[in-house]
Amino acid sequence: MSAEPLEIYLQEEQLGRQLRQDVRVGLTARPKCLPPKWFYDARGSELFEEITRLPEYYPTRAERAILAEHADEIATRTGVKTLIELGSGSSDKTRLLLDAFSRHGGLGTFVPLDVSISALRQSTAEIAADYPGLRVRGVVGDFTRHLDRLPAGGGRLVAFLGGTIGNLAPDERAPFLAGMRAALEAGDWLLIGTDLVKDPAVIVPAYDDAAGVTAEFNRNVLRVLNRELGADFDPDAFAHVALWDAEREWIEMRLRSRRAQRVRVRDLGLEVDFAEGEELRTEISAKFRPEGIQAELDRAGFATRARWTDADSLFAVSLAQVR
Ligand code: AVJ
Repeated sequence: MSAEPLEIYLQEEQLGRQLRQDVRVGLTARPKCLPPKWFYDARGSELFEEITRLPEYYPTRAERAILAEHADEIATRTGVKTLIELGSGSSDKTRLLLDAFSRHGGLGTFVPLDVSISALRQSTAEIAADYPGLRVRGVVGDFTRHLDRLPAGGGRLVAFLGGTIGNLAPDERAPFLAGMRAALEAGDWLLIGTDLVKDPAVIVPAYDDAAGVTAEFNRNVLRVLNRELGADFDPDAFAHVALWDAEREWIEMRLRSRRAQRVRVRDLGLEVDFAEGEELRTEISAKFRPEGIQAELDRAGFATRARWTDADSLFAVSLAQVR
């Protein structure tokens, strides 16, 4: 193996600055909110992996089934030299694509991009070891800000899996997809996973599991703030809430203050008061309708070439191409 397959574009200092800004803005907003990307320290990434194995959390299994069925078609149809994965995490399902590309030849480079250094360290090392002919260049970055750092040319496929696009609100998705289009060239490809609108009785338990793993994942963001910013949150003083917003068709995760309390964020010189029952929004996870996905892609300059769902129509994977 040559160099370490990790390029740290997002320096720790820059990451810290972003965290401080997000926390200052989010905790002084009304209602209070925090962006979901700060869940994913080493512990948060582990908890998320645990979530993907929960009986209630269907998206990972559904998407994996779709990829298993269509990976060969994706590899032959796109025939790209470079596979870029945004929000790659463990890149576990991506192995289905890498395996298909190995069978059909041609893929030279894999570029996973994630905000979690710990997840990237592990995934790049494991993938480099398991795919000896592949050049693996991990990029530590934020997919909403660092699309300009992607390697250029040669035919590229950007994979954005897991339904992570749902973490963006509709008014954030349009500029995000337009930015992605701008970072790509005509003929490049986008493979995007989207969780579908369905009975809330299926969706809500996926975000409020019986074992309480999602609750721990949710509260983990408070532990991140305690460690990184010297905050003094008592995670147990916050209850996990998962709420389906039927109008906007998204699930919302919140942390509800169990009592009136004051929290100090030492490094920001900030004191934050929570009323009893006050909620802090930590994530939205939007669900999609097939026509909606295609329309959003179309408006951003992508033509949908194929769209697949699993046997129960829980989840969709779309293959689109830059026009
Ligand atoms: C990683 C953003 C796709 O929204 O379902 C899982 C994160 N949050 N359980 C999702 C998550 C709560 C997940 N994504």
